[in-house]
Amino acid sequence: MKVSIQVVVNKEQVSLKVDSRMSLVDMLREELGLTGTHIGCRTGNCGACTVLLAEKPVKACCILAADVDGEGITTIEGLSSDPNALHPMQDAFVKHQGLQCGFCTPGVILSAVAMARNNPAPTEQEVRRALAGNLCRCTGYQFIIKSVLAGAREMAQASG
Ligand code: FES
Ligand code: FES
Repeated sequence: MKVSIQVVVNKEQVSLKVDSRMSLVDMLREELGLTGTHIGCRTGNCGACTVLLAEKPVKACCILAADVDGEGITTIEGLSSDPNALHPMQDAFVKHQGLQCGFCTPGVILSAVAMARNNPAPTEQEVRRALAGNLCRCTGYQFIIKSVLAGAREMAQASG
């Protein structure tokens, strides 16, 4: 069965007809071409598919597209407000070698941004807790945590 939904994705209003069983991650990738949202496990374990739904990090493989009707979604493609510049958290990952293959990176960054918006000066422990649902198969956790701490500082400075 097809369902009509309206969503705001990366600040753009979108109207779609989706299969009632389609997941949010498949809608983003297949219907909207937003392939920066990755698929690892499809079972809610790896966090590769993390996006922001109403500003909160969610695993898009575990949510039906039909259930996000009327909601706002941010993917990695829409994170920076300037299309010609990286978001401060993305910038920190580049500067502090927070990625290796990059498969987990979009999900990790979205979880990190959601945390830093609520907690501009997190401790290492708080960063580890916020990223508990995001697995890195390259196991580069030390550099990821360093990057998130730096990114949170850069976000706090950028917001004045
Ligand atoms: S693909 Fe969604 S949690 Fe792994
Ligand atoms: S950088 Fe490769 S999975 Fe995390």
